Amino acid sequence: MEKKRIGVLTGGGDCAGLNPAIKWVVKTALDDRLRKTRRIEYEVLGIRDGWKGLVSPEGDSGFLGSRIIPLTEEMVRTWDRYGGTNLGTSRTNPYDPQKNQSKVVLENIERLHLDYLIAIGGEDTLGVAHKLYGEGVKIVGIPKTIDKDLSGTDYTLGFETAVNVITEEIDRLRTTAGSHKRIFVVETMGRHAGWLALEGGESSGAYIILIPEYDFELERVNELLLEGRRKGARYDIVVVAEGAKPSGGSEFAKEEGVDSFGHKVLGGIGEYLAKEIMKTTGIETRSITLSHLQRGGVPCAYDRRMGRYFGIAAVDLIVREDFGKMASYRNGKITAVPLEEAVGKLNLVDVKTQYDTERYNGRRTILGY
Ligand code: F6P
Repeated sequence: MEKKRIGVLTGGGDCAGLNPAIKWVVKTALDDRLRKTRRIEYEVLGIRDGWKGLVSPEGDSGFLGSRIIPLTEEMVRTWDRYGGTNLGTSRTNPYDPQKNQSKVVLENIERLHLDYLIAIGGEDTLGVAHKLYGEGVKIVGIPKTIDKDLSGTDYTLGFETAVNVITEEIDRLRTTAGSHKRIFVVETMGRHAGWLALEGGESSGAYIILIPEYDFELERVNELLLEGRRKGARYDIVVVAEGAKPSGGSEFAKEEGVDSFGHKVLGGIGEYLAKEIMKTTGIETRSITLSHLQRGGVPCAYDRRMGRYFGIAAVDLIVREDFGKMASYRNGKITAVPLEEAVGKLNLVDVKTQYDTERYNGRRTILGY
């Protein structure tokens, strides 16, 4: 009987859907049928804290004790019900140009006898996976990010739960906004992609949705709001993506500098917009930043199912020795794409077919209409 070892890790921002994916990686890899039909026996090791777990598996001042834990079916039995990631995560970049630790990672993969790796993450984590694949590591990926900005897949874990959070929070805001006849500006996450704002705004019936893919005119925003009030609106909900910007302006950043993957920490557009709207329209306006609430909470039914499908698919890729790929969901089917395709460019909102540039809202109908 061939004995092989799979390491699994979650990297980048956490979200709902990671634990279901880990559970199904473990269940599929430890399934008896693999032993019977293919004469392979897998062992699954959970790697804590993303790539940090392979930079310092023995732990460090931030985590005392081993970052490597054997995962059993019994351990992960209930994990699909829980949000976040029970393996922990980090934004550690082993290929950080300031401090390249990729050699250490390769040595640790060897030392821990990890025959295969499953990386669950977004463009950063899977970007690292792609580079490691280039160095000969037998690795596959699972897409996750509430931003839904990975190419090569129609779905990334965490997105639908985050959209549900946006919808629920806006439902709550409506009652207080209505009582006070206020405008509420709701800032969502999403970095350079407008999916969260767009689909969260559509789900909650927001009056205006502003996305990074289309720079807005402040004047038009105010005009739409005043027009709405003239038509009888008592209150308004404006959803703005953290990466959206007024035309001629630039993205709002919360802090100076960038992280180890070169990203700015975005935020602040909601507050700016609320002030500008109030100044011009004279209508009382408040802003709220949903921030990390969007990544929290238990996975919705869809993320539990997608986590399951992606977890199974990732192990199937390993069984078939089809490395350097990411499990993907395309046109209603589970499939796989090269990691290179997934991280090559961002998947952004197609303004032409999905956005109404006059009313600053979503627009989807039959293609070509
Ligand atoms: O990529 C996921 C995401 O939630 C982005 O939408 C957001 O800009 C960023 O992560 C926030 O990162 P952090 O958790 O490091 O504050």
